[in-house]
Amino acid sequence: MFNFGASGTRVYLFWFGLLLFLLPPFSFAGDAASGEKVFVKCKVCHEVAPDVSKIGPSLYGVMGRTAGTLESFAGYSEAMKSSGLVWDEATLKEFLKSPLTNLKGTKMAFIGLKNEQELDDVIAYMAQFSDEGASE
Ligand code: HEC
Repeated sequence: MFNFGASGTRVYLFWFGLLLFLLPPFSFAGDAASGEKVFVKCKVCHEVAPDVSKIGPSLYGVMGRTAGTLESFAGYSEAMKSSGLVWDEATLKEFLKSPLTNLKGTKMAFIGLKNEQELDDVIAYMAQFSDEGASE
């Protein structure tokens, strides 16, 4: 019926490989592995380990956090605490593009990420660190 010769197998493997390639690892637009490299820019001030804060608060579990509410971090600005923001892909992206202009009065002295891909990637990276693990 079918000829599963060497070339047939190769064709099959090609399509299977292409399918795997097209399936994103998370539903986030970004790539967490690339995001780890972007996060180097944040590491001066942030860690992703629970409750390990430096100049900035720990970003463990930041997805879903109401801005300015990590109890173990005492250094929040009034601007952050009263922003009413809840961190998700959209709010993080907006803030991180230009923290100082998008949240007037923030203590996060960081110029921002201008590159869309870097923004998506670093958000996907941070989303991995939470009690739930990588969120769907
Ligand atoms: C120069 C130090 C510094 C750098 C660099 C920095 N941050 Fe921050 N970050 C802070 C400080 C300080 C705060 C608290 C700001 C406030 O309260 O106004 C903060 C707050 C945040 C918050 C809000 C957290 C919360 O608990 O509400 C997020 C999210 C965040 N930073 C992400 C990042 C990411 C991602 C990067 C890298 C792209 C980065 N930061 C780079 C110092 C920094």
